[in-house]
Amino acid sequence: MSIGLPSPDRVSALRRDYMQRALNEADLDPDPIRQFARWFQEALDAGVIAEPNAMVLSTVSPDGRPHGRYVLLKSFNEEGFVFYTNYGSDKAHDLDANPRAALTFGWIEQERQVRIEGSVALTNRAAVEAYFQTRPRGSRLGAWASHQSAIIPSRDTLTDALSQAETLFPNDVPPPPEWGGYRLAPERIEFWQGRTNRLHDRLRYRKEESRWIVERLAP
Ligand SMILES: Cc1cc2nc3c(=O)[nH]c(=O)nc-3n(C[C@H](O)[C@H](O)[C@H](O)COP(=O)(O)O)c2cc1C
Repeated sequence: MSIGLPSPDRVSALRRDYMQRALNEADLDPDPIRQFARWFQEALDAGVIAEPNAMVLSTVSPDGRPHGRYVLLKSFNEEGFVFYTNYGSDKAHDLDANPRAALTFGWIEQERQVRIEGSVALTNRAAVEAYFQTRPRGSRLGAWASHQSAIIPSRDTLTDALSQAETLFPNDVPPPPEWGGYRLAPERIEFWQGRTNRLHDRLRYRKEESRWIVERLAP
């Protein structure tokens, strides 16, 4: 009896040729952050990407297991790329032991990928508090209600904790001490543009001392 899975042939037959654009050395800004800003703006302007600031954060656990999950980019500049999370979560434990990580943006509708690698540090508390206050009240209370990555017996644990947070904070909701930001300071940034016949363009910036060197990689 069929259980409704697509047949293996249908999966293997999924194939698209990437033909929208090219990425040439001459198109690149010498500064990778400005280049990222240009592509990020184009991802926003395209209007077809549901979460242009969603990126896969890859970390490695102390026992060498890679972990990937989406987080949201909340700001970026010359100093790095900032996301917010729970300092008691699995990702935080990975970063405590090994403060190196990768961020991957998949703007597939534009046949683009950006990979960023570097070292990660906590953002300062004043910036965390300022950002936390821009979040809707429900999200602020939710941060108190969830001990991210802990095993919980049921959803009731969350709804009960949310009710308690509502009682505890009838007006202002401060950020929980275990909630905050990380900034990844980039050492490598690769821009990938899909091309026909799988001969994609890959241009990677690599930081050598304080200079950025651009290299083309085989697809
Ligand atoms: C689109 C999207 C955006 C997300 N953004 C965040 C985020 O900004 N911060 C966060 O802690 N988790 C975010 N999550 C949830 C994470 O993917 C993950 O489930 C959670 O952080 C726990 O990961 P960990 O157990 O590896 O620490 C997001 C998930 C999705 C699908």
